[in-house]
Amino acid sequence: ITQEALLATGKAKAVYATSNPQILWLHSLDQATALNGKQKEHIPDKGRLTTQISGLLFEMLNRAGIKTHYLSPVDETDILVTRLTMVPIEVVVRNFAAGHFASRFDVKPMTPLVPVVEEYYYKRDDLDDPALNASQAVALKLATPAQLAEISDITARVNQLLTEKFKTIGITLLDFKIEFGLDDQGALVLGDELSPDNMRLIDDATGTSLDKDVFRRGEGDLRDGYEIVLHRLNETKGE
Ligand code: C5P
Repeated sequence: ITQEALLATGKAKAVYATSNPQILWLHSLDQATALNGKQKEHIPDKGRLTTQISGLLFEMLNRAGIKTHYLSPVDETDILVTRLTMVPIEVVVRNFAAGHFASRFDVKPMTPLVPVVEEYYYKRDDLDDPALNASQAVALKLATPAQLAEISDITARVNQLLTEKFKTIGITLLDFKIEFGLDDQGALVLGDELSPDNMRLIDDATGTSLDKDVFRRGEGDLRDGYEIVLHRLNETKGE
């Protein structure tokens, strides 16, 4: 497989075509953004950390039978994935109150949420990703009711697998965002990335954030937490 034309550059990744029309080449950038790109910083080595963490988590989900776009690593910052037609919805799962849920509803951060909260956002930078409910998503033709039901089922299973995995390495998964796409057979497949850029992780031993909140709050070097997450995932690799 060889890398071909640059197709798109996002906030965290560059996407390239390859010699195989069904396969894309993703390169993670050494860059952190927040506030929909309004806060932005070059952070050396970040692309390696997010790529490695994401790869280990996708491999775990693949082993558990979840359909994901992850195929194989190219090098420390680049991977090959199945080409998908993305569903323009961000699915957010919340096990504990944090971030916008805590502020919007005035709930104390870390409050356990029962049932687990699932939220949808329309992926539109120009609209600042507005919140959506299921009927709005269908009326806007972003997904069919059957696809939304399946997204919800897969999302619950992903939450279960990620929550258990992090628990075994002394980390609590507060919330995360995932995205889905359709493969050339029309099947729903988990895409995007699974890294501390897209989830909130608390170290059970110290109570500190091991995720992008460190950058959002300007509290220090996000790489410290990402290194801890990668190190602990590597210690339990293959489980
Ligand atoms: O900001 P908020 O509290 O809604 O974020 C919920 C979760 O979704 C967090 O883990 C955050 O990192 C993730 N998220 C994301 N991309 C967005 C919005 C939220 O990865 N555009």
